[in-house]
Amino acid sequence: MTDPPIAEAILRGLRARPKTLPTFLLYDALGSALFEAITELPEYGLTRADLRVIEAHRADVVRALPGPLDVVELGPGGGRKAALFLRAVTAVQARTVFTAIDVSASALRECQRALEQLDGVEVRSVEATYLDGLRRAGRVEGARRLVLFLGSNLSNFDRRDALAFLRDVRATLSPGDALLLATDLEKPAAELLPAYDDALGVTAAFNRNLLVRLNREHGADFPIADFAHEARWNAPERRIEMHLVARRACEVRLLGAAVSFAAGESIWTESSHRFRVDELRAWADESGYTCAEQWTDQRWPFAHSLFLAR
Ligand code: AVI
Repeated sequence: MTDPPIAEAILRGLRARPKTLPTFLLYDALGSALFEAITELPEYGLTRADLRVIEAHRADVVRALPGPLDVVELGPGGGRKAALFLRAVTAVQARTVFTAIDVSASALRECQRALEQLDGVEVRSVEATYLDGLRRAGRVEGARRLVLFLGSNLSNFDRRDALAFLRDVRATLSPGDALLLATDLEKPAAELLPAYDDALGVTAAFNRNLLVRLNREHGADFPIADFAHEARWNAPERRIEMHLVARRACEVRLLGAAVSFAAGESIWTESSHRFRVDELRAWADESGYTCAEQWTDQRWPFAHSLFLAR
């Protein structure tokens, strides 16, 4: 049976205008595997840019945060970025506690397996939402906490929610702790759109898998082939929007309800916002931090901002 709050969120979204579905539903086991594949696509420059900035500036981050560090990552995926980053930490301290926070048990297992190999690193896993996990993650006595929020995961929050999230993260920290925030920067729509509508159709599969999931887990009868993936650039909001567009009029049954689609009507499944470096600095000030440093990638404009908790 579908969890009542999830059923309610699904039906509320499908009754709204425009129709929407909760973005987190994209990430079942297949969706997570498809997202991993997206990060390897030639069109999707974000992950490579993130890795380049980590590699180029991880030692600068560690230098900016003297004293022992206790490292926490929100949504570490398979642990590839953390492994790269932790090399700069283990170069200056003998023992490091790394805490991975994720709602996905399989991601945590994978991350744990990858990072356990590192000398001097003790890996802890907390299966929880980001904020819950941060509240629950035990602190290392005498160490400064560094929270990693990489991959431009902040992109998928509405701007207002993003600022509130930064404040909520700050509330779990002590003065002197830090947040390393990786965000994708503005770039021409002609470069961004292919990243969300790739030639191989991996992003289309990632998006349409949401309907496959609703059919499998929530007893829906979406005719999958009748819904097309579409990526749109919303210039005023500076975001890519992913939609699933009905190719023909149809009626779908799920969770004891019937939902009608007109031909061409869409379900909005994800927003992915772009940022400006000065906007991120202003957000740091507004949410209880000082933006100590920013490092950017020139090839695929992308920023790492080091926020120090005031
Ligand atoms: C996880 N997140 C930052 C990705 C993004 O780029 O917004 C999710 C994604 N959606 C489509 N492609 C990748």
